[in-house]
Amino acid sequence: MSKDVIGLGLESSCDETAASVVKNGREILSNIIYSQIDLHRDYNGVVPEIASRSHLEVINSLIDKAMKDAGVNFDDLDYVSTANRPGLIGSLIISLQSAKAAAYTLGIPLITVSHLEAHMYAPYLEGAEMLFPCIGLLVSGGNTALFKIRGIGDYEFLGRTRDDAAGEALDKAAKFMNLGYPGGPEIEKAASRAIKKSLFMPKLLADSNDYNFSYSGLKTALVNYCKKNPDYEVIETAYSFQERALELLVRKSIRAAEDHGIKRITAAGGVTANKRLREIFKEKSGGIEVVIPSPVLCTDNAAMTAGLGYHYFISGNSASLESDVFPRE
Ligand code: KG4
Repeated sequence: MSKDVIGLGLESSCDETAASVVKNGREILSNIIYSQIDLHRDYNGVVPEIASRSHLEVINSLIDKAMKDAGVNFDDLDYVSTANRPGLIGSLIISLQSAKAAAYTLGIPLITVSHLEAHMYAPYLEGAEMLFPCIGLLVSGGNTALFKIRGIGDYEFLGRTRDDAAGEALDKAAKFMNLGYPGGPEIEKAASRAIKKSLFMPKLLADSNDYNFSYSGLKTALVNYCKKNPDYEVIETAYSFQERALELLVRKSIRAAEDHGIKRITAAGGVTANKRLREIFKEKSGGIEVVIPSPVLCTDNAAMTAGLGYHYFISGNSASLESDVFPRE
């Protein structure tokens, strides 16, 4: 019987610090996440300096808790994996440096992965079969992109946002309507109370046949509408904004699947925590299977980093202790 492979994953690319232990790339033994939302709320967005200082303060205790919850010792670890791109430089450095220290002192391989690729791996931590090719939709606060995924590490880029990411657009809309931070969940909450459900916001990229996204027009439409109608109904406006923003994600993903003759879409990233997005996919996907992880694995976490890292580990794809961090993919 072959020995289990145990990996420690770390994550600190933006405003969540996380540590997780994963067995054989598929089974989560622990998944500890510390969210900095409260630290950034007053600023309506992530303040990089605050983010990196907070990562530095909490990462060691999160690692300890992840190890304890998993019931494993440091000697049991076969590799340590962290995202070293894309993200905030001062934040990425914290998990990379911690991972380097662990790799060096324990004499185990350091694995560095893309945070975006790690998001796309999240569905496989809940038992989804690894079926390729599939269409991957990544939709978070900083990224909105579509890929054709042929296998682990084998991605064909299909399209991305030309301006704001979907999550960024939701965050800015919520800020404009004073709904709070982060905006995605606040807009979702408000939209769920809509009664009229009228779609008065413009349909996005109606004539575009590519796989790109754009959210700046919707944002401008919202601002113009609210200025023209100072007594606008926040809940109905949030509904219409959210519907348009989410509908574009679903339409583009399904078109990509149909054009490529692919029967499965996997979606991940913070915005995929949205319940209405899941409903729209269900309504529109026809014979295409849509796999979206549980909300806790949609937003930033380190289980996805440890899970993806397993595949790099078993293929001998480790990183040097001189590895750097990168703001972009
Ligand atoms: O993936 P993520 O946790 O962080 C990165 O950007 O890497 O995504 C954060 C984004 C934010 O824009 C947040 O507003 C959005 O995901 N988000 C949501 C929901 N939960 C988080 N958007 C819509 N509905 C949600 N339930």
